[in-house]
Amino acid sequence: MSIRDVLRENRVLMRLYSMLRDSIGHANDRYYGIRTESVDSFRFRDVCTDATRYEAIPYWLLRRIVQVVKPGSEDVFFDIGCGKGRALAMFAQCPIKKSVGVEIDPALAQVAERNAASLKGRIAPIEVRTENAAETDYSLGTIYFMFNPFGPTTLAAVLGRIRETLVKRPRKITVVYYNPLHLDVLRKELGLSVEVRTEKHFPWRPQKVAFASNDLQKA
Ligand SMILES: C[S@@+](CC[C@H](N)C(=O)[O-])C[C@H]1O[C@@H](n2cnc3c(N)ncnc32)[C@H](O)[C@@H]1O
Repeated sequence: MSIRDVLRENRVLMRLYSMLRDSIGHANDRYYGIRTESVDSFRFRDVCTDATRYEAIPYWLLRRIVQVVKPGSEDVFFDIGCGKGRALAMFAQCPIKKSVGVEIDPALAQVAERNAASLKGRIAPIEVRTENAAETDYSLGTIYFMFNPFGPTTLAAVLGRIRETLVKRPRKITVVYYNPLHLDVLRKELGLSVEVRTEKHFPWRPQKVAFASNDLQKA
């Protein structure tokens, strides 16, 4: 029986486990001077019918992603569905050109802006766009991150827009897709090589992250 099975059968242990994970998130937030914890229900289904609710990516996994993509001085990072801006904050601590967040919920976008202002150790500028990701201009980006923000319809529209920018301005890009529920869409719409990694870190269960790139060093 796995730890997960034990937790599933014992509500008290499950509660303690969730509290441990939350407190690790809060401790990291305090360290960076931002507030990104908690899960929110989604309020904008009339604008984006297949959107998911807000939940922040675990800090340890973000650090792994930074290690894999190795952002450099020419990179512009996009978090598509940035929520309260945890990933924006982590990438803005790297020596990149800019960290751009796209968020459809104005309340979450406002929190992301506040976090950008209070973030300790920021190196790169942060821009937060309160927009529907299906209508955003992606032409400046080189690293695009998504934590399962929406279903296949919006995902296809977003990836189509990113692909179009490559025709107008050919460049190296990397797409990072965490909790990749619609890998088939990623493969079909981008036509790039995709690597799916399973990352492990106690006390979290293994997490899947897909990396798609036309940069041979990152593919
Ligand atoms: C699972 S959360 C990820 C938050 C953040 N990227 C992180 O990793 O911490 C998904 C976010 O996508 C946003 N979202 C959903 N549909 C969107 C859309 N069409 N355009 C922009 N943001 C969207 C939600 O409001 C939510 O904040």
